[in-house]
Amino acid sequence: MGYKDQIDLSKLPKHVAIIMDGNGRWAKEKGKLRIFGHHSGVNSVRAVVEGAVDLKVQYLTLYTFSTENWNRPKLEVMAIMELMVSTIHKEIGNFMEKNVRLQAIGDLEMLPQKCYNELMNAIDKTSANTGLVLTLALSYSSRREILSAVKSIAGKVQRGELKIEDIDEEIFEENLFTKGMPNPELMIRTSGEYRISNYLLWQIAYAELYFTSKLWPDFRKEDFFEAILDYQKRERRFGMTSEQVN
Ligand code: FPP
Repeated sequence: MGYKDQIDLSKLPKHVAIIMDGNGRWAKEKGKLRIFGHHSGVNSVRAVVEGAVDLKVQYLTLYTFSTENWNRPKLEVMAIMELMVSTIHKEIGNFMEKNVRLQAIGDLEMLPQKCYNELMNAIDKTSANTGLVLTLALSYSSRREILSAVKSIAGKVQRGELKIEDIDEEIFEENLFTKGMPNPELMIRTSGEYRISNYLLWQIAYAELYFTSKLWPDFRKEDFFEAILDYQKRERRFGMTSEQVN
């Protein structure tokens, strides 16, 4: 029996976040350039999106490019941006067919114009789709996101639109890029690294963390299903006792 058949569809995570790591090492193992790994990583993105659509997971958020990634060699950054432009362009038809709505979070104005335009075009074209919400974290830094929420809230207080005592978790979340989205219940990281790397720090407070040694270009639908199955085997207690949640 495959992993998919063992998944309890009534207990799916609503939101899965993924740190797609290991493209460079995958390419290096094969004696190829790092960008070859990123190109292969796109196949994994496609497979995981399909897996999420198959299961009817509502939100999938992919860490595609971090703020820190801008410090990589210029050639690699340019190649990733080019890859993003061509991938987004090619995938629009697929998104429409699968009813996927594309979104992006991060400092999007940092993206090269061509990349930004392609992204906005795809977001616009898929905006009426009602299936999976696929969010790309691009030029994303969770600490920056939190700081920008703090600044926006401080501004509202300064202008007298909000009272300090009224600031609560709900208001805070309305000022994050992920506004309106449920928090991820499952976070997956590939490539055997055990770090969060500035990703969705506020949002993953109660997420189950799943780590696999597989490198991202080797990650496929079955691996996604295996992660969900592993998540379902865990007991989520939110600080309560086992008796309280059962
Ligand atoms: C991490 O591997 C991967 C990235 C920083 C880039 C991820 C981008 C893609 C897979 C392209 C996806 C495109 C779309 C449109 C979703 P790494 O380079 O950090 O690998 P390493 O840790 O082995 O060096």
